[in-house]
Amino acid sequence: MGRKFFVGGNWKCNGTSDEVKKIVSTLNAAEVPSEEVVEVVVSPPFVFLPLVKGLLRADFSVAAQNCWVRKGGAFTGEISAEMLVNLGIPWVIVGHSERRLILNEANEFVGDKVAYALSQGLKVIACVGETLEQRESGSTMEVVAAQTKAIAEKVSNWDHVVIAYEPVWAIGTGKVATPAQAQEVHFELRKWLAANVNPAVAESTRIIYGGSVNGANCKELASQPDVDGFLVGGASLKPEFVDIIKSAETNKAA
Ligand code: 13P
Repeated sequence: MGRKFFVGGNWKCNGTSDEVKKIVSTLNAAEVPSEEVVEVVVSPPFVFLPLVKGLLRADFSVAAQNCWVRKGGAFTGEISAEMLVNLGIPWVIVGHSERRLILNEANEFVGDKVAYALSQGLKVIACVGETLEQRESGSTMEVVAAQTKAIAEKVSNWDHVVIAYEPVWAIGTGKVATPAQAQEVHFELRKWLAANVNPAVAESTRIIYGGSVNGANCKELASQPDVDGFLVGGASLKPEFVDIIKSAETNKAA
């Protein structure tokens, strides 16, 4: 039926083991809505995954921030989907704009990664989003549709996919999309899924928003009908992440 609210914390390339332990103990002590209302997933850097998984409360889970596109082997510096499965890591973030733009990950490569991770039993947070130039030139939907199409071409079962719409101009800038801007793209993405995959997938797939989400702006965003949660960067390292988790209640009431 309804799409369960999803709050992801992308810690990116931050933290020491002491800092990580501190964040986890804050989360463990937090009073948040139940698992029936909100799914919470935090994504530490690879090296801290076992530590976080070991310490984190049982109703929250963990995600890796990336994985290799195919079966592991002679790929120096990479981490395979098989390794994540072996460590009991249930989720992986794929296609984050920082990887698309800085490391030149192309749409097709991201689509292949999503498909391979799913084939190994991982659940995937697949990121899409336009740059400021693309938004200003009016090509936002064209860009996110092409990114989503490259994933849709490789994926047949969407049960374990969450789409994160993260406009690049809103990431780490403090310049959050307005609720109307987020809702518009989420609505269009859902329409795209209905037309190009099928209406059932469009109805059940969670589309979450990322880009300068914080404790102050999360409620209004969460009340938008097509915003099914958040992928949070900077604020996921701070106690206000708990307030963002609690915004799930706003969504339920909407
Ligand atoms: P910020 O919340 O720091 O803008 O980052 C968003 C993001 O990239 C999450 O993946």
